[in-house]
Amino acid sequence: MTADKYQARMRAHTNIALVKYWGKRNKNLFLPVTSSLSLTLDAFYTETEVLFDPSLKEDSFTLDGQVQTGQSLAKVSNFVDLFRRDFNMSLPVQITSRNHVPTAAGLASSASAFAALAAASNQALGLGLSPEEVSVYARQGSGSASRSLFGGFALWHKGQGDDSASSYAQQIDPADWDIAMLVVLVNPGPKKISSRQGMEHTMQSSPFYALWPEEVAKDLSAMEDAIKDRNIDQIGIIAEHNAMKMHATMIASNPSFTYWQAQSLLAMERVRQLRQAGYSAYFTMDAGPNVKVICPYSQVEAIRQALLDDFAEDHLVISRPGPAPYAV
Ligand code: ADP
Ligand code: DP6
Ligand code: CO
Repeated sequence: MTADKYQARMRAHTNIALVKYWGKRNKNLFLPVTSSLSLTLDAFYTETEVLFDPSLKEDSFTLDGQVQTGQSLAKVSNFVDLFRRDFNMSLPVQITSRNHVPTAAGLASSASAFAALAAASNQALGLGLSPEEVSVYARQGSGSASRSLFGGFALWHKGQGDDSASSYAQQIDPADWDIAMLVVLVNPGPKKISSRQGMEHTMQSSPFYALWPEEVAKDLSAMEDAIKDRNIDQIGIIAEHNAMKMHATMIASNPSFTYWQAQSLLAMERVRQLRQAGYSAYFTMDAGPNVKVICPYSQVEAIRQALLDDFAEDHLVISRPGPAPYAV
């Protein structure tokens, strides 16, 4: 008897939140405290191949050509267990992944990574799950990954209680209009505090965290209106303020911490100056020192030129809205 093998290779793009996810109400299920909203980027992505094969002895994971062991392997192995459990199979898996995004630098490698792995598992096993259903799996690898199952603007619903299936993402707008994101690579190296640790520590120790859920609720409804109106200035104003409020919760943690570096502050100041000069440029920042500039695509080249005074050419990456995962 020949046992079957199941293989697929998928590319998933990263996404940057305009209204952030920062905190879990259920750590095991990756259920968030709030809903969140993002823009998928075409410039950064992960490609992941899965091979489920009965002749393999055990699970394996290679990232960027390096064989992974310990925690790094356990994370993806435990993730694939979600599929093995739900679809009642026990085949070992060989996972081979390549990041076309700096890993663990606050550029959402965990988002593209788990979206690619979830999409590849769905494809390889022929499960026929919808993108919304796949997002429920991706979420349990990394919360932000739920949103990378969609191109353009995506909304991740916080869901109800401990009901895992109610916390899924969906596309709210394809972003096929005049919008772009310019990524200022302040430092593409790996961060010291992972997103997971940072949000956990903030929830446990920041007196400002109590204010966060209400602020997100207000920002989300205003952001949805701004996207419907294609009002880039409103989108930028809300996103910039939302990011600053999130970073304020971290600074108020005990002990305090921040992902900002000196060059992050310089980039923020330059964006404010560009606004003074009449550009529709706004920034957002995540769990890392890199700064992302939201602007119309029609202005992005002029903004890049202006930032060349302070940042090297290869540290300024223009991105347009990106697509949903696809087979490669
Ligand atoms: P980021 O800002 O890059 O999302 P996180 O702290 O959220 O940083 O997540 C980084 C972690 O995501 C890595 O330490 C690793 O565990 C996981 N990761 C990154 N890329 C991959 C990949 N291609 N496949 C599987 N896991 C990945
Ligand atoms: C600041 O999704 O990376 O980028 O769910 O613990 O894997 P885990 O964390 P992750 O956190 C992302 C935090 C953020 C905001 C966002 O993407 O919404
Ligand atoms: Co992440």
